[in-house]
Amino acid sequence: MKEQGKIWMNGKLVPFKDAKVHVLTHALHYSTAVFEGIRCYNTPKGSMIFRLQEHVDRLFKSAKMYSMKLPYSKNEISKAIIETVKASKLKECYIRPIAYYGYGVLGLTPTPNKIDLAIACWEWKLGESSAGKIRGARCKVSSWLRIDSRSQPMQAKAASNYANAALARVEALKDGYDEAIMLNYNGKVSEGSAENIFLVNNDKIFTPPPSAGILNGITRDSVIKIARADEISISETNIDREDLYVADEVFMTGTAAEVKSVTEIDNITIGDGKPGKITRKLQNTFLNVAMGKDKRFSKWLTPI
Ligand SMILES: Cc1ncc(COP(=O)(O)O)c(C=O)c1O
Repeated sequence: MKEQGKIWMNGKLVPFKDAKVHVLTHALHYSTAVFEGIRCYNTPKGSMIFRLQEHVDRLFKSAKMYSMKLPYSKNEISKAIIETVKASKLKECYIRPIAYYGYGVLGLTPTPNKIDLAIACWEWKLGESSAGKIRGARCKVSSWLRIDSRSQPMQAKAASNYANAALARVEALKDGYDEAIMLNYNGKVSEGSAENIFLVNNDKIFTPPPSAGILNGITRDSVIKIARADEISISETNIDREDLYVADEVFMTGTAAEVKSVTEIDNITIGDGKPGKITRKLQNTFLNVAMGKDKRFSKWLTPI
């Protein structure tokens, strides 16, 4: 990681290399943290944060699901995010706000500890990951099931969800794939390790509903709104593994991944093995939206 700019910690901007926590920080031991992943794009009109409000709203919802009372308001956190990006002097970056139970008392109960909040950003260029853009990604249906929301709130973007996601990701990479697809306890498709998933059949798009145990992705929501604005049919429905194999197109969405095409699953070629027509159209529109070139969605961009 290139150490550049400052990191916001509990109200102060500190040099990147000095943003440290104690080894007995509660969250480090018990995953008691919620966080966000946000992008700032270098648009022709300057640097713009994509859907800042929605990300801050989701951070608060994630915290609420874990009864964490964040010590700052939404407005204060939004301002702090903008301040951190400005201080980084980066035109294009990934932004990571994280709220976590800090250092104090180390035992299972988190609440005696105070809730700390940090915001970091680092360089991340538009379309940086090639898998799914230049070529389609090769995915594997994971042997690990997505954690069931009867076990923990999977609609929270919480650190505790990511041990499960990392097991799936590492398994897929070790087996020579680009990414994992996770099924839920009902055997239905939920999502990728860090992306939502969609399939296309006869020019209609389908994606699993939140009740499939997915994270309610902000890129997913953007793609749903873009598709509807472009009069492409899109609906939420439970999806079986077999539906993916025989779909015309499969794609994934996420803040890091943007819109990425999936052209192979479990060594089965999807469609004709090339990024499909609807996927490519959504990739183009999404990039135009992120670049501020699509006036219909300019309200999604917050200038720095
Ligand atoms: C498990 C999971 N699902 C879906 C997503 C996509 O969400 P978003 O589009 O808000 O980045 C992410 C990305 O953070 C994720 O970690």
